[in-house]
This record gives sequence, C-alpha cells and structure tokens, in this order.
Amino acid sequence: MSAVPDPHGGWFTPGQIAGFVGLLVLGAALGVGSYQAGQRLAGTGGGAVVTAASTSDTPDGRVLYAGNCAGCHGANAEGAVGPALKGTLGWSATDFRRAVLDGRTPDGRTLGVVMPRFAATGLDGAPPTDAQLEAIRAYLKTLP
Ligand code: HEC
Repeated sequence: MSAVPDPHGGWFTPGQIAGFVGLLVLGAALGVGSYQAGQRLAGTGGGAVVTAASTSDTPDGRVLYAGNCAGCHGANAEGAVGPALKGTLGWSATDFRRAVLDGRTPDGRTLGVVMPRFAATGLDGAPPTDAQLEAIRAYLKTLP
C-alpha cells in the first residue's frame, strides 16, 4: 500500500523495534511524571492562586477569606488569634465593611490593632472592593 520503498523487505529490524519500544516506555514515564506533578500543584495553594486569577470578575469569598483572614480567625472562622466571626453574621453589609476596613464595630468599639485596617493594608495587596467584602461576608454565612 505504501509508495515508499522499504529497504528491509517489509518489516522493521529488531534494533528498530527495540528503539520504538524504548521511546514508548520513556514517553509513558515522562507523561505520568508530569501528570503527577500537575496534580501535586493543583492540590496546594498554587491551585487557589489560579482560581483567584481566573475569577477576578466575581470575587471568590472562600479564596479571599483563606488568603486574608483565616490565618487569624481560623479556617472555618471558629476563632484563633482573632475571635470567631459567627457573631458578626447578623451585621449589615455596611457594618461588616466598616469593621473590616476601619476596625470599628456597630456597637462603637474600636478593634484592637492586631485586626488589620484593610482600607489601609488592602486585600491581596489591592484596595478592597465592596464586592470582595460582600463575597467574604456571604462565604462566612456558608460555614458550619
Ligand atoms: C493579623 C490577624 C488578623 C487578620 C489577618 C484578620 N483579623 Fe479580624 N480580627 C483580629 C483580631 C485580633 C480581632 C479582635 C479585635 C478586638 O476585638 O479588639 C478581629 C476582629 C474582627 C472582627 C470583629 C469581630 C467582633 O465580633 O467584634 C471582624 C468582623 C473581623 N475581624 C473580620 C476580619 C476579616 C473579614 C478579615 C480578612 C479580610 C480579618 N478579620 C483578618 C485579627 C485579625
């Protein structure tokens, strides 16, 4: 069927076959290796960064909370260095914003300096937007 003349009379030499098989095995090993490396990456914070970048239009409250708040308030806002945030779920969006941006609570308290003034420090290094703060507030409401 092939129009190209075959110098070996139709079959590959044993040396050529060994070469092909070797290449196949090598390719499979490389493929599996990079697949596993990709999975490892996706399982770490690297995955979260990618998520944040790809959804910058609609802020992801989970990612924002994990990156900016969880270190002090706990992974599930159960409290750590900072208090549990359950008590703030009833706050209005405006009250929540004022606390996070300027450290002032609805009952007129000024939060201790350990709580960052996010108006000054920024979220992920950029000035916080209302949509981001609302996304964090909405995310907090989904926590157990
Ligand atoms: C460096 C640690 C730290 C980080 C980071 C931090 N907080 Fe806080 N936060 C605190 C501390 C400590 C308090 C308590 C201050 C006080 O009561 O004087 C607090 C208080 C609060 C309060 C008031 C709670 C209450 O019941 O009065 C809210 C709301 C809050 N934090 C939200 C956030 C959010 C949202 C983020 C992330 C965007 C965040 N915090 C990041 C330490 C932190």
